[in-house]
This record gives sequence, C-alpha cells and structure tokens, in this order.
Amino acid sequence: MTERKPMSLQRLLDMHASGDKIAMLTCYDAAFASLLDEAGVDVMLVGDSLGNVLQGQTSTVPVSLDEMVYHTRCVARGRKSAWIIGDLPFDSYQASPQEAWKSAAALFKAGAHMVKLEGGGWTAPVVRYLTERGIPVCAHLGLTPQTVTMLGGYKVQGREDAAAALMKRQAQELVEAGAQMLVLEMVPSALAAELTQTLGIPVIGIGAGVGCSGQVLVLHDMLDVTPGRRPRFVKNFMQGGAGSVQEAVRRYVGEVKAQTFPQDELHGY
Ligand code: KIV
Repeated sequence: MTERKPMSLQRLLDMHASGDKIAMLTCYDAAFASLLDEAGVDVMLVGDSLGNVLQGQTSTVPVSLDEMVYHTRCVARGRKSAWIIGDLPFDSYQASPQEAWKSAAALFKAGAHMVKLEGGGWTAPVVRYLTERGIPVCAHLGLTPQTVTMLGGYKVQGREDAAAALMKRQAQELVEAGAQMLVLEMVPSALAAELTQTLGIPVIGIGAGVGCSGQVLVLHDMLDVTPGRRPRFVKNFMQGGAGSVQEAVRRYVGEVKAQTFPQDELHGY
C-alpha cells in the first residue's frame, strides 16, 4: 500500500469544502491505531467512550484525565498518518478556561492534534481560550454523554423547534469562538445536514444522518464486541462476510466515503 500523507487540519477543512467524506472511528491503543491507519481511517478519536467499552463503566463520567493521556499516548505511537482527537473528560474543563488549558495541553503533549469537548453556550469562551493559544478544538453538540443525566437519558436532541434553534445558535457561537470541527450525536438528519451546509467547518455525525461531512462510530460497536443493546445508529461491519477486523474497518471507510453508510431510514432520526 502507498504511504498516506499525514492528515492536516487544512486537509480536513478542504475535504469538508469539496464534499469528500471524512471517516472517523474511536481508537484507544497502538495496535488498533496502526490497523485503522492502514485501513484508511482519516481521524482517530481517543474518546472517553473508553470508560464504557474498555473499563466497563456505565457512563463516561468516571474517566480521568490521566487515563485519557495514557490512551492518547498509546494511539499516537501506533499512528502513521491519521489525525488524532483527544477527548477532554468530565471534570477536566468545566471549572475555568485555565483548567481546560492545562487538560488540553496534557492531551496535546501526549500526541493529540486536536481536543474535543462537550456542550454549547458556556463552552464558547473555553473554545476561544484554547484556540487563541494554539490548540485546535472539536466541539460536540446533541447527545452529550457526559451530561446525559441532565438530558434525561440517551435521547435524540434538537427535535423540537426551540431545541433546534438553540443548537444552531450554539453551533454558530462555537464556530465564532474558533472551533474547527463539530461532532453531532443523535440529531435529526435534516438539522445536521443544515448545520453541515451552513457552518463552514467539518461536521461529523454519529446518529446524525448521511448529510454530514463525515461519520464517527465507537470502534467496539461497529466491530460488534460491545455487550448489550446497540443504539439504532450503529452498524455491525463484521456482518456480511468481513473476514477480518481490518476488512470490517475498510468496509466502514468505503461506505462512509460512498455515502452508503449511514442510511437515514435505518440509522437516522
Ligand atoms: O467518546 C466518544 O467516543 C465520543 C463519540 C461517541 C463521538 O465522544
């Protein structure tokens, strides 16, 4: 296989502008980082979902910054060209922009190229603080797992007119504050498509329809190794004849690029 050029923020912005779909997966260790990279994944998210899928926790809340730093370091060692996003865990950025800076810098030093944080409104000044000082930020709106208790459970967000208007306003504020990517989780497809067309930054969907700039899934979900019920937006890529994990990941990348995954009628809201 020919060597891929290292992914850059500019290239991700160009992919969004030209409509080339971005394939993102979560990743937590060096072995999978190497496999995902060779299978053509553009972006690896060291997600705090590792609390659920690696640690067996019932939520992402217990995950610590030290754990995120450790896993980011592991992924960075296995990576050749994919862009790495490190998730800021619960209680590492809420208290102040200064606290967020310390946490983001720790992930950055561990090898992340960008950090992700959840929520809108109060997060805009935090995003501004980090981006003005040189750390790229991916925002995350819709279903935000760290605050699922406040949201009343794992539910679609932005269905009602007022909620959709609030999400649009918060997304715009985050872009104005300097966010250069946005993850939308469990958001109606039409709203996600509208945000993708209007915001000017890559919008990565998870349960947000095919109209986004790209897609992300939790690795263990798409490989069907997560115990229990899967959310509607997950597709099992080991099904249908993938003879290996590598092949399943290649299929995921291929389907995201060809826009055959997700299918709104099967995986959307
Ligand atoms: O932690 C994670 O894996 C995430 C994705 C679900 C987007 O935030």
